[in-house]
Order: sequence, then structure tokens, then C-alpha cells
Amino acid sequence: MESHPPVNVPASPPIQFSGTGPGPQAADGCSVELYRRSAYAGEIELLRPWLPPGTSVLELGCGTGRLTHRLVEFGCRVTGVDNSADMLRHVSDTVHRVQADIETLQLHQRFDVVLLPSGMINHADGAVRRAFVAAAARHVASAGQLILKRQPPQWLLSAQVGDVSGSADESMEVVAVARSPDPEGTQVRMTLRYRIGHDTWTHAFSVITLDEAPISRLLVAEGFAPPEALDAGRLWLSARPQSLQGLFPPHQP
Ligand SMILES: C[S@@+](CC[C@H](N)C(=O)[O-])C[C@H]1O[C@@H](n2cnc3c(N)ncnc32)[C@H](O)[C@@H]1O
Repeated sequence: MESHPPVNVPASPPIQFSGTGPGPQAADGCSVELYRRSAYAGEIELLRPWLPPGTSVLELGCGTGRLTHRLVEFGCRVTGVDNSADMLRHVSDTVHRVQADIETLQLHQRFDVVLLPSGMINHADGAVRRAFVAAAARHVASAGQLILKRQPPQWLLSAQVGDVSGSADESMEVVAVARSPDPEGTQVRMTLRYRIGHDTWTHAFSVITLDEAPISRLLVAEGFAPPEALDAGRLWLSARPQSLQGLFPPHQP
């Protein structure tokens, strides 16, 4: 009988999403109280040129409204979607709030801007990433744009157990991390511990690192033109629906 040494093929790690700490957790493991108590950190100030007053915005994964409320201050007309009722409860009633899974969202309405923030595009499951972009395509106006933020790959690839960032009052610590290769990037399973004052929360999640090329392929497959970067770090990307013009030959009478 022939015998072969075992081949060391790294297995894809199971996708994990869970959380612990005071208050409820959303299905993706995010803690409602952590988001409610985390201040807006200026994340979307750079988007202001694309969000003039009156812009209709669909924010996917709005949480407790940390970014949503700033969009309202910009003068945008905002619809916020989240699948956690506990998160949405904290979003102002000046926002049209929708409790739904992004993957199956069907509002029968189109928006000037669809916003997919917070590194949600980095979901570890490729089918979910596609479903997020398809939902954006169903809801963006023909002259509108999808604006998304990817997670910084360098950080996901370099973070080590014990790394701590933040201040004496608020901090974040890496308590577990494991990485494995994937055709689109690197799969990263990570557990973070957050602290605000005397309260602590943990969040265990799975993400994939994404360079611009796989994101561009995904966007184009769902009917968008290749994206443009909006910031120097090229983490914020904007993609417009692919124009039908030019795809068909001019009409010959
Ligand atoms: C990382 S939090 C970000 C919240 C908010 N954007 C912020 O920056 O404060 C992600 C949010 O997306 C929601 N979420 C995650 N996956 C979702 C899905 N498939 N459908 C709807 N909401 C989802 C979670 O409930 C959570 O509130």
C-alpha cells in the first residue's frame, strides 16, 4: 500500500462573530453600548464635498447612528439600515430607520449616495461581500455613487496579541489573532477588547484583507465602474454605476 505524507493545506478558518460585555450585542458581535458610548471621531468629514445639503443617503450598517447623525448635520436626507433593533433604537427619528439585512434589502427607492462604511466590505464571506455590493447597486441612482470604506490591510496583517491603542479613558487591545491565506486576500480572525472607563467589551470577528483590485472586480461584476479613491490612504472608494452609453452601437435609421 502506498503511503503519502500528510499534505499541509491550511484549512479556511471558520467565520466567527460574537461579543461580550454590558448591554446587548448585534448579530455581528458588535456591542450596542460600546457604539452608543463611542464618540464620532471625524471619520466622514473628508466626504463632505460629495454630501452637499439635500443629498439623499442610504447608510448600510448604521449602528447607533454615530455617522448617521453627522450626515443629518451635513443637511443630508438619511435612511439608515441595520439588522439590530437594539442598535437602531438609538438612531434619531430625524432619520428614516429600517431594520433589515443588507443582503436582502429592497426599498424600491434610489439614493444619491449609498454609504457602506466601517470596513463592512471586508466581510470574510465572499457571498456576503457580493450581496452587500448588489444591495448598493439596487439602491443607487443612475447618476449617484456608492461610497465605501475598506479596512487598512497593513493593520490587519501586522496587529499582534497585546497591542494596545487609545488613551487612559478609552482603549482597544488585541487579545487573539489568527491569519490564513485566501485567493482574494488574507483571512483574519481577531478578538479585540475595548474599554471605556471601567466597562469592557470583547468583539470576535472574521474579516478578509482587501486590496483595491479585488474590490474593483467585485464592483464591476455588480454593474459599477472601477472605483476612485477619495483619500490619500486609498481606504475610501467611490464607484458610480456603469453607464449604458457606449455599450451599444449608435442607432442606425
Ligand atoms: C461595525 S458596526 C458600525 C456601525 C456604524 N457604521 C458606526 O461606525 O458606528 C456594524 C453595524 O452593521 C450592522 N450589520 C452588520 N451586518 C449587517 C447586515 N448583514 N445587515 C444589516 N446590518 C448589519 C451591525 O448590526 C452594526 O450595527
